[in-house]
Amino acid sequence: MNTGTRTISQAELEQQLAYPDKISALWHSRGITPTAYVETYGCQQNEADSEKIRGILLQSGYNMTDSAEGADVVVMNTCAIREHAEQRVWGNLGALTHTKRRHPGQKIFLCGCMAGQSVVTDRLKKSYPHVDGVFSTHHLWQFGEILYRVLTTGKRVYFIEDEPGSIAEGLPQHREHTLKAWVSIMYGCNNFCTYCIVPYVRGRERSRKSEDILSECRDLIANGTKEITLLGQNVNSYGKDLEENIDFSDLLLKIAEIPGEFLIRFMTSHPRDASEKLFDTMASSPKIAKQLHLPFQSGSSRVLKAMNRHYDRETYLQKVLYAKSVMPELVLTSDVIVGFPGETAEEFEETISLIQQVRYDSLFTFIFSPRPGTPAAKMEDLTPKEEKNRRFDRLCNVQNTISEEIHSSYIGKVFRCLVDGTDKELLTARTEGGRLVRFAGDPALIGSFQNILITGSTTWSLSGNLTEKE
Ligand code: SAH
Ligand code: SF4
Ligand code: F3S
Repeated sequence: MNTGTRTISQAELEQQLAYPDKISALWHSRGITPTAYVETYGCQQNEADSEKIRGILLQSGYNMTDSAEGADVVVMNTCAIREHAEQRVWGNLGALTHTKRRHPGQKIFLCGCMAGQSVVTDRLKKSYPHVDGVFSTHHLWQFGEILYRVLTTGKRVYFIEDEPGSIAEGLPQHREHTLKAWVSIMYGCNNFCTYCIVPYVRGRERSRKSEDILSECRDLIANGTKEITLLGQNVNSYGKDLEENIDFSDLLLKIAEIPGEFLIRFMTSHPRDASEKLFDTMASSPKIAKQLHLPFQSGSSRVLKAMNRHYDRETYLQKVLYAKSVMPELVLTSDVIVGFPGETAEEFEETISLIQQVRYDSLFTFIFSPRPGTPAAKMEDLTPKEEKNRRFDRLCNVQNTISEEIHSSYIGKVFRCLVDGTDKELLTARTEGGRLVRFAGDPALIGSFQNILITGSTTWSLSGNLTEKE
């Protein structure tokens, strides 16, 4: 595996940016406006990558559509985090044989976290002849060239070599919404949690220069963005690989200094690197949302060690306690894995007790899925599937009760919310902590911050009324 970082030079980028123009001219000469469909699986990092893929497609003269049927280009931006995610991709990729039969000119591309793994390449070569182009995350910046080659040679194109992780500034990007924006601040991951495929498919940790991030944020805010979510697999280690002397807290403050009314969120924080400085910084700025996604994965220190998480139950709890002490209104969410190899019934109970102690607003819960090539996939795993399912259901029930209790405690309180859309005849908004609120109001309010008095709640969401009160 290549562990380097490659910063794409201005010259390389300019060379790449010539391809969309050539593609556009190609279609123009045929008098056709082509269409493209991008399907995104997985996390926000992939959503952000798809915005770049759409940017390149638009510049190449394509109009975006919302279905593979009849589209001239289909891009599947895949996720490899769990077996289920991959199975969905294989199923949907298989179904594209039919759309391609109905529209033989259709060009199909597979990219993202599945692309580049040799087992995936072998299977594609053997059983998916309708796929025209495959490129790994390291090659995303070359999508223009890949598309051009497929269109002009009619041959299958693979860009999957084991390259260093790339950083490419200045690629075109098409954001569907202006109100809320993802901004990647770093790529890759160095942590090698024993269950996780991400470091293998996204390469080593690499940070964007702060000036590039800041100028992107300034542009977004000038164009009406009210919520920026900073993305990275482990945002707390931002800057460690940079020449400039900056850490994640410093970056947060610099973004918060940009004039305008907006909110900054970020994900994901690795508990090992989440520092008191970070919590103090969050507490100090009204522009930084008091929301923290702090995955704990397991409540058992033994399991955490086997996961290679580099913190134990006690340090995790101490960090949460400190964060809550400086931000009493903090909304905490987390990820947890049930049924890691060797997890005993007692160790699972430690996960339950941690949840009860911390009282998360909500949780993302997963059953361990062995990922070929990761150390955990080779660990002995004797717990039957039924027992893992039982633990999973129990955990969800415990969390649902807590979410319901926390949500009902919101009733009677007023929250400043960003109005972000509609749901049937109601408007939707998010509290600073990211909780969903539905209320009646004029759609002209979309894009503004409003005070909402909470009057009702369920496990998943809140309802309320507009109010003048703070
Ligand atoms: N970088 C983030 C997480 C990215 S993956 C972090 O470290 O917190 C999102 C979540 O998927 C993880 O937090 C973990 O809970 C879950 N996950 C990752 N690999 C998994 C696997 N092999 N089986 C089950 N869940 C997994
Ligand atoms: Fe995966 Fe761990 Fe990196 Fe998160 S920190 S992406 S779980 S290896
Ligand atoms: Fe999936 Fe890749 Fe994200 S594996 S969760 S899309 S980083």
